[in-house]
Amino acid sequence: MQHNVSLKPFNTFGFTVTAKYLAHVTNIEQLADIVQFANKNNLPYLVIGSGSNVIFTGDFAGIITHLDTNKITINGTQITAEAGVNWHYLVQFSLANQLYGLENLALIPGTVGASPVQNIGAYGAQFADFCSHIKVFDTKNMQTYDLEADKCAFAYRDSIFKQYPNRWIILNVSLNLHKKFIANLSYTPLKQHLAHQPITALKIFNAICEIRNNKLPNPTILGNAGSFFKNPVVTANIKTELQAKYNAIPIYKQADNSYKIAAAWLIEQCGLKGYRLGDAAVYQHQPLVLVNYGAATAQEILDLANIIQNKVRAKFGISLDIEPIII
Ligand code: EPU
Repeated sequence: MQHNVSLKPFNTFGFTVTAKYLAHVTNIEQLADIVQFANKNNLPYLVIGSGSNVIFTGDFAGIITHLDTNKITINGTQITAEAGVNWHYLVQFSLANQLYGLENLALIPGTVGASPVQNIGAYGAQFADFCSHIKVFDTKNMQTYDLEADKCAFAYRDSIFKQYPNRWIILNVSLNLHKKFIANLSYTPLKQHLAHQPITALKIFNAICEIRNNKLPNPTILGNAGSFFKNPVVTANIKTELQAKYNAIPIYKQADNSYKIAAAWLIEQCGLKGYRLGDAAVYQHQPLVLVNYGAATAQEILDLANIIQNKVRAKFGISLDIEPIII
């Protein structure tokens, strides 16, 4: 274990914070040792992937653990990838092996081990659509077992892993993919982007990469953690009230008859697109993303988030929930 380590390379916001200990592990025995060491010494511990969905509000007084595991195996149409695999690499690997479905999830930053935690999703697809089961290390009883997808409480940017932090450490994920390619064009801008051409998985993959590169800041250049807020979900009654007042409001019907509102639009309507508080800012091209222009602290990002939440609440009566995990 390394001692007093900078976490700057381990959080995509690029906050200048440190961890008391940093451990790289490759097997369950090492993982068990860390959990035992932490419990014995009353230290907090946290397993992180690329740190693309966490906000460190200060130095971490315990053990940050990174899983350096990289194996991917294929069994028929099922692909199993270890937690340390880069998510985008897995998408590329699946396509190279003629297994389809993940193309809509190209270029999402982070690791495979982090993907179920917030049930990553984009452009009409989400992790849960493909998940068969997840191999976990249960820190409560120090056992390893498979959790079937229907036991993971997957929901919009949510799962049991997010609800019960540190109970389970994700070792690998098994995904059911398709041998036959079926285009998922449910996200309208993607459909428009690919109009009038024969659709292949590679075309979707390339289009997604292009759309993301145009809209979302590259965290290696401009610190960020993707969408900072969830898109709020409202009832049919609230939807009707909002539409009566704001006829341009982007609202999308969900399978359970609730309605999802584009938080980016709400923020933009409050005049906050590009708004800056020191080095913490609302991204110019996608106001749902908050960025660090260099020296912003987590507190400044959270102060900015608070301003946004207050303005959106005052104007629309809607609360915005923060999406990344605050540590
Ligand atoms: N919009 C504006 N102004 C803007 C940008 C967008 O008004 O400057 C409105 C438009 O009406 C647009 C709508 O917001 O149609 C939705 O925007 P977008 O398609 O960019 O997606 P999003 O709802 O803001 C979600 C995910 C993203 C994911 C995209 C694409 C959440 C919290 N975010 O963003 O995920 O990439 O859809 O599917 O659900 C992430 O979670 O970190 C993330 C980047």
